Amino acid sequence: MATALVPGSFDPVTYGHLDVIERAAPFFDRVIVAVIRNPQKAASLFSLEEREAMLSEVTGHLGNIQIEYFAGLLVDFARLHGAETIVKGLRAVTDFDYELQMAQMNQSLSGIDTFFLATSPQYSFLSSSLVREVARYGGDVSSLVPPVVAARLDQRFKEGPPA
Ligand code: PNS
Repeated sequence: MATALVPGSFDPVTYGHLDVIERAAPFFDRVIVAVIRNPQKAASLFSLEEREAMLSEVTGHLGNIQIEYFAGLLVDFARLHGAETIVKGLRAVTDFDYELQMAQMNQSLSGIDTFFLATSPQYSFLSSSLVREVARYGGDVSSLVPPVVAARLDQRFKEGPPA
């Protein structure tokens, strides 16, 4: 069974992520969306469970998507799940250096290759961190994230982020 991993923080999932997942899905029997448990970033806005719930909802129409959490090395998680391929979106050249480095490190650690998908141009400026910032100050994110995510952002900033 050809299995691919689409890893990330997904805090929260955006139309850019969804674009990559939807376009990768037909090429594999199974696509595991791998949500990192311990991002090397500031505290998450959404809990793992919330991120999973949003991902499940927005990928539900695809039929071959599995959502999982992981900690530690992505390649160890890939081996555990029999994934032969990592799929990443490339938005712009600014992504390239770091993504290339990670792809080469992952390849040298495990032999697992990374396939890059060029993000659709309308999403090339899009990132979860910018979405969080726009939503935090009451901006319109309806063209950036699916409605279920927009609603959760709205709710989160009304109630205040988790401590
Ligand atoms: O959405 P993000 O935050 O850009 O995703 C980054 C992620 C999770 C894909 C990356 O940080 C990752 O793969 N982390 C796992 C740790 C790992 O395997 N590091 C070695 C890769 S060189």
